[in-house]
Amino acid sequence: MKKISLIINNKKYTLDVSYDLRLIDLLRDKLNLTGTKEGCGEGECGACTVIMNGRTVNSCLVLAHQADGSNITTIEGVADGEKLHPIQEAFLEKGAVQCGFCTPGMVLSAKALLDKNHNPSREEIREGVSGNLCRCTGYNKIVEAVELAAEKMRGEQK
Ligand code: FES
Ligand code: FES
Repeated sequence: MKKISLIINNKKYTLDVSYDLRLIDLLRDKLNLTGTKEGCGEGECGACTVIMNGRTVNSCLVLAHQADGSNITTIEGVADGEKLHPIQEAFLEKGAVQCGFCTPGMVLSAKALLDKNHNPSREEIREGVSGNLCRCTGYNKIVEAVELAAEKMRGEQK
C-alpha cells in the first residue's frame, strides 16, 4: 500500500492505495465518481478520460499511486454546482449526446483543448477529441458542439 495525496475536483484527498489499483478504479469504486466510464480498459476508447495536471489521460492506464500529488478534474468537477459548463450546454444544444457513454470523456478532452486554445479550428477540434471514440453520433455534432462551446467561452454566445 502507498499513501497518496491528490486534489480531485478541487477537493483534497489522502488515501492508502494498493500498487496495482488503477486511477479509474480509485475514482469509480473508492470515491464513487462514476461519471468516468470504462469502455475498453486498454487505452483505446477514451471513455475513461480525465484531466490530470492540465492534460488528458486515460484513467484506465494510470495507476492510482502514479497520481500522487496531482490535480485531477473528472466530469463531476466540470459544472459549477447546478450550472452546466458551456461545453455541457453546447453538447445538449447541438444534440451531440446519444447514448452518452463517450460524453464525459469527450467533454473533458474538449475542456483540455479549450482551456488552452480559445478559438480552435475544426481540424484542431477533431485532433483534440481524436482519442475519444463515439459509436453513435458520427462526430459532426460533437465538433459543432465544441465550436459552439468555444464561442460561448469567448463570450460570443449566451
Ligand atoms: S476505458 Fe480507458 S481508454 Fe477505454
Ligand atoms: S453518444 Fe454513444 S458512444 Fe458517443
